Amino acid sequence: MTDSTKTKSALFPGSFDPITYGHLDLLERAAKLFDKIIVTVAVNNRKSSVFSGEERVDLIKECIRHKSWHSQIEVEQFSGLLIDFARTKNVKVLVRGVRQISDFEYEFRMALTNRRLAPEIDTVFLMPDEQLTFISASIVKEIAYWGGDLTSFVPDNIADALISKFSDQQEKES
Ligand code: PNS
Repeated sequence: MTDSTKTKSALFPGSFDPITYGHLDLLERAAKLFDKIIVTVAVNNRKSSVFSGEERVDLIKECIRHKSWHSQIEVEQFSGLLIDFARTKNVKVLVRGVRQISDFEYEFRMALTNRRLAPEIDTVFLMPDEQLTFISASIVKEIAYWGGDLTSFVPDNIADALISKFSDQQEKES
């Protein structure tokens, strides 16, 4: 395969618990740079999450169903080391978002760790639209828990899923 015929693929890994407008903005940017992107939902049983891996995968698929670039995207869950998953998919690029300088230290450490473990794999950093840089899945969960307005943070299907999760949880707690 010559360079010009190579398919440019990338993994876009994260917890996505849940996916936000920030992630979707990054995914759209990545879709302009790569032919194929595997959104890789990390499932870590040592970390608690609001949504199961399967739920996160389904929610992401629902969010991108109507996007013009959806055919470039695959969504999969994985458990284990990211570089092992990348190797099974034969992908050499990881895409991560950096929202602000405070993200950078953690991202830098993770990228170098991954490169030490798998020198053939590199990490590419993308910045989201500056209007979205303050959005994080944890902030979204906090707003949802206290019944705040989620419209500018996540698409409707995610807001609905969060509301239903937290109302179940509050019912159990009461
Ligand atoms: O959305 P997040 O929580 O910032 O994503 C972090 C994630 C899932 C990409 C990272 O924790 C990860 O790659 N986990 C898989 C385990 C792994 O490969 N760790 C080594 C890299 S330090």
